[in-house]
Amino acid sequence: MKKLFSALLAAAMLAGCSNGGASTPSAAPADEAKEYNIGVAIYQFDDNFMTLYREELKSYFESLNTDDVKYNVTIVDGKNDMNEQSNQIDNFITQGMDVIILNLVQTSSADALIDKIVAAEIPLVLINREPLAYDADGNTLDEAYEGILNNPTVCYVGADARQSGTYQGEIVAELPDHGDINGDGKVAYLMIEGDPENIDAQYRTEFSIKALTDAGIEVECLDDQIGNWAQANGETIAKNALTQYGEDLEVIFCNNDAMALGAAAAITAAGRTVGEDIYLLGVDALDECVEMVNNGTMTGTVLNDHIGQSHTAVDVAVALLNGETIKDYYWVDYVKVTK
Ligand code: BGC
Repeated sequence: MKKLFSALLAAAMLAGCSNGGASTPSAAPADEAKEYNIGVAIYQFDDNFMTLYREELKSYFESLNTDDVKYNVTIVDGKNDMNEQSNQIDNFITQGMDVIILNLVQTSSADALIDKIVAAEIPLVLINREPLAYDADGNTLDEAYEGILNNPTVCYVGADARQSGTYQGEIVAELPDHGDINGDGKVAYLMIEGDPENIDAQYRTEFSIKALTDAGIEVECLDDQIGNWAQANGETIAKNALTQYGEDLEVIFCNNDAMALGAAAAITAAGRTVGEDIYLLGVDALDECVEMVNNGTMTGTVLNDHIGQSHTAVDVAVALLNGETIKDYYWVDYVKVTK
């Protein structure tokens, strides 16, 4: 009896506090927070840019937790191994994730992974590595990808790598000597590429040079090597080219900043000076590279907006959790970074 009386009293007080007694009071306990489980598969933790991206993704999800909703985020490391990542996706499906955010190890495996995620009726946000359309012979096409177009709960969030390449080339074209340090009428360059299967690497390689030739500048490719996005590879490739081509080498284009950091070390070791006898370009705008651009030890970089991309990915994931209709593609702009 006493218990019942205090419960009634508490309910009356609650009703009085919350709504002035205007509507029907309820003694029911407050609803528990709604919990969502989010599985995030990153191609490889050991990647400067994707580390910033995943940390921002996690903290942005955390910032959205309220008394009513809680996002449990599980992030796994694909270790740049497609089999490992495929197993991780199987686990996410078994664990009944409510949404999956996927940074593919290999875009050529997109179909297989998307098919099983869609079959499990889990919405999917693809990030950073854009899967491409391909023809019957498996050749990639410059068109939107059917795995995204045909599945209303699958989308891609990323940045158009053509823009980043173009910005790199434009930074060189806008220099007083247009990159032609020795005045022989052409820009002799070294290209250090990321993972060749990755469209970011392909487009940056192509469009950086296209921006120069579009500006009427003659170019000469001294060497084009694959550095797989890694700093140590950038250093080795730049070191070899500096030894082989010496003063003939005028510009080093790197598909990302990690490799540009490596190239910068090789440039210093070779006794060369950025801005005086060589130019160096990257993409991502890692903090240390923005600092280098400001102090002149790097010619320029391009902001690959990990904050904009990760927030967009999370916002779209939340929209999917709320059953909202989403777009196929979400694009975040690159930004030129020069002194
Ligand atoms: C970034 C690279 C990164 C790669 C990973 C690119 O967009 O510029 O730094 O290694 O994504 O897929």
